[in-house]
Amino acid sequence: MSIQIKNICCIGAGYVGGPTMSVIADKCPALTVNVVDINEDRINSWNNEDLENLPIFEPGLSAIIKKCRGRNLFFSTKIEENVACADIVFISVNTPTKKKGLGAGQASDLKWVEACARQVAKFAKNHTIVVEKSTLPVKTAEVIKKILESSHTLLKGDQKKSFDVLSNPEFLAEGTAIRDLEEPDRVLIGGDNEEAILALSSIYREWVPEEKILHTNVWSSELAKITSNAFLAQRISSINSIAALCESTGANISEVARAIGSDKRIGSKFLDAGPGFGGSCFKKDILNLVYLSSFFGLPEVANYWESVVKLNNWHQNRISKLIVQKLFGTITAKKICILGFAFKANTNDTRESSAIKICRDLIEEGANLFIHDPKVKPRQIESDLSKKNLNIDDEFEGQLNYREGNWFYSYNIYEAVKGADAIVVF
Ligand SMILES: NC(=O)c1ccc[n+]([C@@H]2O[C@H](COP(=O)([O-])OP(=O)(O)OC[C@H]3O[C@@H](n4cnc5c(N)ncnc54)[C@H](O)[C@@H]3O)[C@@H](O)[C@H]2O)c1
Repeated sequence: MSIQIKNICCIGAGYVGGPTMSVIADKCPALTVNVVDINEDRINSWNNEDLENLPIFEPGLSAIIKKCRGRNLFFSTKIEENVACADIVFISVNTPTKKKGLGAGQASDLKWVEACARQVAKFAKNHTIVVEKSTLPVKTAEVIKKILESSHTLLKGDQKKSFDVLSNPEFLAEGTAIRDLEEPDRVLIGGDNEEAILALSSIYREWVPEEKILHTNVWSSELAKITSNAFLAQRISSINSIAALCESTGANISEVARAIGSDKRIGSKFLDAGPGFGGSCFKKDILNLVYLSSFFGLPEVANYWESVVKLNNWHQNRISKLIVQKLFGTITAKKICILGFAFKANTNDTRESSAIKICRDLIEEGANLFIHDPKVKPRQIESDLSKKNLNIDDEFEGQLNYREGNWFYSYNIYEAVKGADAIVVF
């Protein structure tokens, strides 16, 4: 008998949970989609009347929210009741790199995933399909399964709970998330229960062609996601390493990139030299791959992938030095305009943004930064730079060289650029 899906619950209303569930609600009007989160502020922003105040900026997202919110898409902090009535629960919570303990600095911290599994185990009723949407190390599904199975002891009376665990990693890229979700290159579903796989596939089949929905075992699916990010990041480190060589030899990196990208075997994507990769995923997922490789006794594989991250760190340091060098060896009290602070265009996400490291270095060197990014709020930059911004009117009126080593938030791009010794475009 096939499993019928009517109610979806997604735990985690972040950069993945919010947009992914919005697109599912849009494409599947017959389904009810509940997105839940422990962060009340975030949920309030998702429910804000003014669509300019959504917690996440993605082109096309607010139009979908306008259409679906209150119809078949709901945001709340009511985890218990929404898990209880769900046929499918997506786990879409954060999985940052561990800061302490075993595997610190490399392995993913799975405490939020484990907490979710325990919540699902406790609140679910009847049969529930649990889907790993978060990016997880290989074999995490086994851990989730164990936690869920232990919930049998929580049963009361004749009530029966059962679970299937599937892996369905998300491949969206921030900045193009809605397009990526609406026209994915592929949807990957890993699992061993054909009925559960078909039930999850039936959601995507509403708008994704059948041949793009790939079925694998759980572990291939988990590994494919981190490997995919590792390959993308590797291309960025590769082209940035060649950019450094171009600067020393007089070759032009754009010309080199165009020439090599014309080879169909290589392709032209991800060949733009820049300030290095940022975002919450690339570094974390590669470090996770490094940890897994070491754990399974493959130090050569671990070293290979670690070098991609090392090159990126080296490259980011190199950029700040290059700026100082181009400004005649000193930037003390000079005005430097920073255009863009998020880790890439068309997002408000600043996690691991190259701008953070480079701006900190420039402030340390004594420059006064004027930062303009219409999608990133001053308090976010303040928290990323661990430094309060100064009020332009109070501090800078007619005396540009008055202080050194500060940063100012510019709402106005012209004001940011005016009189600048250099403009850094991220
Ligand atoms: N951001 C991306 O571009 C992207 C792309 C693909 C995959 N991923 C992966 O998806 C996952 C989520 O990433 P994100 O960027 O959406 O993270 P995020 O930090 O934006 O959102 C995660 C949300 O989960 C909530 N949360 C944590 N524990 C919870 C719990 N027990 N109950 C309810 N809510 C809880 C947090 O409050 C937060 O709002 C990560 O594993 C990430 O690697 C991210």
